[in-house]
This record gives sequence, C-alpha cells and structure tokens, in this order.
Amino acid sequence: MDRRKDPYSPGAGRPPFALVGRAIDIDEFEAAAWRIENGMDARPLVFYGLRGVGKTVLLRDFQKRVASKGWVTAFVEANPEKSLRAMLSDELKLAIAEMAKPSAGEVMLKALKTMMSFIQLGMDSSGQLSLGMDFSKIDYSNAATGDLSGDLTVLVRDLSASCEKTGKGVALFIDEAQDLSESDLRAINMAAHRASQEAYRFIAVIAGLPTLPRILADINSYAERLYRYRSLAELDAESSRDALTEPSLARGVRWEDDAASLAVAETGGFSYFIQEYGSAVWGQATASPITVGDVKDARAEAIKRLDEGFFRSRWDRASEAQKVYLQAMASDGDGPSSTLEIANRLGVKPTSLSPRRAGLISKGLIYSASSGTVAFTVPQMAQFIKRQTT
Ligand SMILES: Nc1ncnc2c1ncn2[C@@H]1O[C@H](COP(=O)(O)OP(=O)(O)OP(=O)(O)O)[C@@H](O)[C@H]1O
Ligand SMILES: [Mg+2]
Repeated sequence: MDRRKDPYSPGAGRPPFALVGRAIDIDEFEAAAWRIENGMDARPLVFYGLRGVGKTVLLRDFQKRVASKGWVTAFVEANPEKSLRAMLSDELKLAIAEMAKPSAGEVMLKALKTMMSFIQLGMDSSGQLSLGMDFSKIDYSNAATGDLSGDLTVLVRDLSASCEKTGKGVALFIDEAQDLSESDLRAINMAAHRASQEAYRFIAVIAGLPTLPRILADINSYAERLYRYRSLAELDAESSRDALTEPSLARGVRWEDDAASLAVAETGGFSYFIQEYGSAVWGQATASPITVGDVKDARAEAIKRLDEGFFRSRWDRASEAQKVYLQAMASDGDGPSSTLEIANRLGVKPTSLSPRRAGLISKGLIYSASSGTVAFTVPQMAQFIKRQTT
C-alpha cells in the first residue's frame, strides 16, 4: 500500500489514529474535570505502566480535552537533568502569554503575578518577563520563596482562584514522573493534597513506570490514599483489533478477520507493537482486504523494526556485564525475576550483583518490581534477548 498514506503511528507519544481501549480512563478524567468545573474537589490521578503502553498519548488526550474548553494546562515531561520549577516555568510562560489581557480582573492579575514570581526563580537574571502591565498595586502571595512545595501550592491556589468566575480549571500533567527528584515529587504530592482538601479547581495527572506508586508513597505515606491509581497495560483482544483495523479502514482498507487475529496475537496487545505491526503490514499488503498471507509476509519486517529501534536502543545502553545480567533475567520471560535466582544462575553472590542491578535501573532498562525482584521496563524484552543469543 502507499507508504505515504500509512495510517499507523509507531513512535513515542505519537497520537494514534484511534485511541482505543481507554474508555474507563477517559471517563475517570472527564468525571474529575466535571467535578472541578462544578466547584467540587477531584482526586488526582496516577497512570503507570511499561514502556510503549500509551501513557503519554493518554495524558496528551486529556490535556487536549480540557485545553479546548479554556482550562489552564501545563504538560511537563520530567527529565533528571532539570528541576520541576524550570520545566514548569517554560510551560507557564505560554499560559501567561494567553492570560495576560488588559481586561484581566484583580484575581487574574494576582494569578499572573504569582506565576511570574514562580517563574523568576527558574529563570536566569536576564530572563525577566515584561507584559507591559502594572502589577504594582496588587498585594500578592509570593511564589518565589525557594521552597518548591510551598511555592507550587501558592501557584495552584492562585491559578485555581482565577478560574472561579470562568468555571474552568487548572490541570497539571507530569509524564515520566519517576525521573523527578524526591523534593519535586514531594512538592507535587503536597500541592495535590492541599488542592483536594481545599477543593481548588485543580487536578494533577501523573504518569510513569510501574514503580511510580511506590516512589510516591515512599515520599509521603498519604500518597497511597491521595491519588487514584490506574495501571495501563496491554490492550484487550477487541481493542487491539480496533487499533489495527480502524486506521486502515479510514483509508478504505479492510482486514480479514483471521489476518487481524494473527496480528493481534503477534503483538501481545502492546500499543506500540500494534502500531509498528500495522505499519509493516501496510507496507507489505498490495490490496484490500489484508490477508493472513500479508501478515505473515510482514512479520519479519515488523520484528526487524522493533529489534532495530525499540529494543536495540535499550540493549545497546547496557554494558557487557549488564547484558549478562539481562540474559539471566530473560529465562523468566517478562518476569519478574528473583534477584536471588539471578545470582544462582550466574553462580555468584547476590550482593556482588547490586551495582549491576543499580546500573540497569538507573539506565531505565529494568525496575525493582517488589522487594527482591526485578523486571524489564519494556514488554517482550526477554524475547528480544533470546533472539540475540540464539
Ligand atoms: N490506546 C491506544 N490505542 C492505539 N494506539 C496507541 C494507544 N496508546 C498508545 N498507542 C500508540 O502506542 C505507541 C506508544 O505510545 P506512548 O508513547 O504514549 O507510550 P508510553 O507509555 O508513553 O511509552 P514510554 O514509556 O516509552 O514513554 C504510540 O505509537 C501510540 O501511537
Ligand atoms: Mg511516554
């Protein structure tokens, strides 16, 4: 089929043609947004799952839903090299530019000034913002004390107040949250906690790897009750089928039932794999409907694309010694693997493997699934490793 018209979207955070299988999550978010718009408190949300399940596209979908209604939104992709204040400041500059209107009332001006004071701490000395507006008469709470927990809470409070009249809200989306520092995560917990208590017009939506719930709770034990946790995993068979067939149908190309079933089985229902498979089959097939033969013919290409992109980029990050550790894990399939058992397999003392394990965790290849176990952050990594060694 014409590659230029490929309707699939393999990639990181690339919105799929059809965002399928997430109706419950979308309902949950929509209900929270409705509560906020109607003056009620809403529970902050945490989404966690392996690489490529669809966390980023879901958060972006939520953001679009409320931004299109005029909410103030900020989307931060956490990065261990940057502070939350610096990342948030970049986003707030955009919000300020939109909110700063000569007609802005007093509450709005207060929110703007709070935003500016919050940002200034994250900017260099030359980075002053000038909006040509007179803020001098307003007595405002300073969000530049240097204590992020307090500053973020003040920012959320004032922004939320600025939405009272309009009936809108403020939404903060944080992706890859497992990469934030402890103090940044504490600040988010605190601001979200305060927002729930005071029914601010605010919701935090946080996404990250499966370790995220534990990381949040280790920082503040109330985080267990504060957030609504949702695990994102592989799509069920029906949704996987929709994810494969709907995009091509929009281009007038149908899948035979057996062909779709075979491709679904091959992908294990993982969103990213579905997109990569769909794309490979699209490139292979020559006419509608797509047949079992097309899927079989495209299989090698799909696996090659996954191996060369998704898997290899991660595999190559591991040192030789770390690869040996990963190979020992791969006997357990997608795991989790017992760290004791890995040591047994390698014939060494468990303690001697701690640095290797820590290195793999910090490279984002594995995570500590529960005490004494580790698992791959990427689905089907074990199968990839076996393909490398056989
Ligand atoms: N619900 C869905 N339906 C169909 N395709 C989806 C869905 N969710 C995600 N995808 C597709 O899966 C791929 C991965 O999505 P995304 O980047 O959001 O995953 P992620 O969980 O954020 O991954 P990572 O942990 O690597 O950041 C993209 O190609 C996207 O188009
Ligand atoms: Mg992502």
